[in-house]
Order: sequence, then C-alpha cells, then structure tokens
Amino acid sequence: MELLLENDVQTRQAGARLATCLQELQQGAVVYLQGDLGAGKTTFSQGLIASLGHSGPVKSPTYTLVEPYEISGRKVLHFDLYRLGDPEELEFLGVRDYFQSENICLIEWPIKGEGYLAKPDIVVELQAVPGGRQMTLAGVSAFGNKVLARYRQANV
Ligand SMILES: Nc1ncnc2c1ncn2[C@@H]1O[C@H](COP(=O)(O)OP(=O)(O)OP(=O)(O)O)[C@@H](O)[C@H]1O
Ligand SMILES: [Mg+2]
Repeated sequence: MELLLENDVQTRQAGARLATCLQELQQGAVVYLQGDLGAGKTTFSQGLIASLGHSGPVKSPTYTLVEPYEISGRKVLHFDLYRLGDPEELEFLGVRDYFQSENICLIEWPIKGEGYLAKPDIVVELQAVPGGRQMTLAGVSAFGNKVLARYRQANV
C-alpha cells in the first residue's frame, strides 16, 4: 500500500494508524523502517509510540542503538542501527531477548543488523519526494498481512 505524506504531522499519523491496528490485534510485531537519512523513520516511530499510550518524549536512539519502552504492559523496542559497526555487536546488546512475539520492535536501518535480527512482519519504506514523503507499507508475514488489511480499512 502506498500513501503520500505531505508533512511531518501526516508521517506521525501514519505511525499512529499502525499503532491502532496492532493494539486491536493485541500482538507484538517486528517492523522494519527503511529509507535514507531524514526520510521520516523516527517521526513515524514517534507517532506510533505516542499513540500506543506513551506520554513522554520519544528520542531518536541514534547513539543508544535501542530505546526500550513499557507501554500498558507491552514492551516496545525502538532501534536505530545506523551507527552499528558490525551486526555481531547485536549479540552483546542481548537483542535476542528483545525479539519475543509479544514485543513490538521498530527497527530503523535494519540492513545494518542483517543476520542478527528477527524477520519482519511489516516493512515501512519512506522516500523523500516533491511534496513530502512517499510511504510504502508491505505485510511480509501472515500476521503482517493481517495488520495491513486492517491498516487499509482504518480511518484514523
Ligand atoms: N511527510 C513529511 N514531509 C516533510 N518532512 C517530513 C515528513 N515526515 C517527516 N519529515 C521531517 O523530516 C525530518 C527527518 O525526519 P526523521 O528524523 O524522522 O528521519 P529519519 O528517517 O529517522 O532519519 P535518520 O535515518 O537520520 O534516523 C524531520 O525534520 C521531520 O520533521
Ligand atoms: Mg531516525
């Protein structure tokens, strides 16, 4: 599914809409966020995390690699792997413990962690275009397809 997001507010709303679908299905998910520097991946994550019910700030985990949240009993892990030197370092961060099916894992720059990450349910691709950002959403697991079917119908 493709959408043109005309400003950062719309990018946040796109993330919030995904949060609503995940909440309705009451399951965790692995979401890969792809796109160049400045494409809007953190903005999308901020909308998603805020919509799940987190009221504080959502920082970009550029230096920490992962920022954990606990939101109404569900763990949300927001990764930014841009500065990861070697995917093997993920082992030392203990990421395997993070990839449990009840957790929501949002992963910016998943390509940097190739081989050490859980497979995605949903891939969000953001691209700067004249007039904003082009967003492409794909469901890449059975659960991801279920989420995407909801996303298409959601009116938020
Ligand atoms: N649809 C949009 N149209 C125009 N600007 C946008 C849109 N969505 C987000 N932005 C802006 O783009 C800038 C970069 O966004 P953001 O930090 O979310 O990118 P990113 O993909 O996380 O980058 P990085 O790879 O460096 O982590 C921000 O200033 C944000 O407000
Ligand atoms: Mg970012």
